[in-house]
Amino acid sequence: MVPHDLEGKNIVLGVCGGIAAYKSVELLRLLVKLGGDLRVIMTANARNFVGPMTFEALSRKKVCYDLFSDNEEGTIGHIQWAQEADAVIVAPATANFLAKLACGIADDALSTFMLAVTCPVIICPSMNTDMFNSRPVQRNLDVIKKDGHLVVEPQAGELACGTTGPGRLPEPRFIVDYLVGVMSPKDFRGKNILVTAGPTREAIDPVRYISNPSTGKMGFAIARAAEQRGANVMLVTGPTELPPPANVRITRVETAAQMAEAVLDFMEHADIIIKTAAVSDYRPCSVSERKLKKNERNLDLTLERTDDILREVGRRKAGQVLVGFAAETHDLESYALQKLKEKNLDLIVANRIGPADSGFASDTNKAVLFFRDGKKENLELMSKDKMAHLLLDRIAALQQEAK
Ligand code: CTP
Repeated sequence: MVPHDLEGKNIVLGVCGGIAAYKSVELLRLLVKLGGDLRVIMTANARNFVGPMTFEALSRKKVCYDLFSDNEEGTIGHIQWAQEADAVIVAPATANFLAKLACGIADDALSTFMLAVTCPVIICPSMNTDMFNSRPVQRNLDVIKKDGHLVVEPQAGELACGTTGPGRLPEPRFIVDYLVGVMSPKDFRGKNILVTAGPTREAIDPVRYISNPSTGKMGFAIARAAEQRGANVMLVTGPTELPPPANVRITRVETAAQMAEAVLDFMEHADIIIKTAAVSDYRPCSVSERKLKKNERNLDLTLERTDDILREVGRRKAGQVLVGFAAETHDLESYALQKLKEKNLDLIVANRIGPADSGFASDTNKAVLFFRDGKKENLELMSKDKMAHLLLDRIAALQQEAK
């Protein structure tokens, strides 16, 4: 199983009565989408913010909101849920819930359930900034952390109450990534992984450049997955709109030359180098300092080659596992094999550019893997997150073989 999947995992989502409860709906949707088997427990106050039917429709299970509501199983239902759970997320966790958890108070379904849980627990506090910073809440969070629970720090920002500061529930996607990180094997612990992502931009004049449609999604997914599996990740990225993955060092660059400098600087520290970036092969020979004005004639641009970063990394590599990508519109296999050989790669991931569900900008990808030893693997269409974990599985196997 690829770690990114929550297939077959029993996950309990606890929802307390905070304004951020609306985000739990999206959180639940994302968890179900990853294949998780979700059960929801709501506090009585949570029902003032979101109706149980919304959660029931998404989880396709009855929501538990008082000790006797899961009447088929009677009062032992919550104990069984606790025993079967692989992970528990409480989002949003209110000050009242934190106080009860810190003290072991069991006076409703969620707090009672919490005492019976033995699997990893992720608590996501969300409340007004002053409440969050108050001594009792901070004291309770200390106790909760000492008890071994994981606490996702709230984000700073403008809150529903009008104040600005920490207290906001992180975006559901962030919480999902955190959970996947908790549940992933730490098979890359201690490894340094260098990932490149995104396009590069080569300036023509101050307002124009040569670039390509890469959004950086594949590279960011790999960086995130590697971090979730315990690696120290350095991400060198061209311009993208994507939120940075948590706990990943990012160097942002614009041009192929800047990317080359960052990569060649860092490569000797890396155990694994994965180059997903769509690097510009050409740049204008000269960059106009002033905006070019149009006239009636054609404009000739003379372009010069940029350095092939991957080829240079392949030439210099000393023991690192080196993975390249190939974006092709035609003759995918022959071009990919040529790049594998000429750039001294251990693995090349070849994408066909053209279909909307694969390659640039899409959330899914379809690729063929070509290995140094001649092996070939056709991958089905899958999310870039899943493909990221699958590639890491293959890289782990390559490292194992090299031992
Ligand atoms: N690459 C690189 N530096 C470049 C060009 C490409 O490091 N100047 C890397 C990419 O990050 C990718 C691999 O080389 O991992 C293949 O990139 P691709 O654009 O598919 O191929 P090119 O080698 O540029 O060849 P062509 O454009 O002719 O297909």
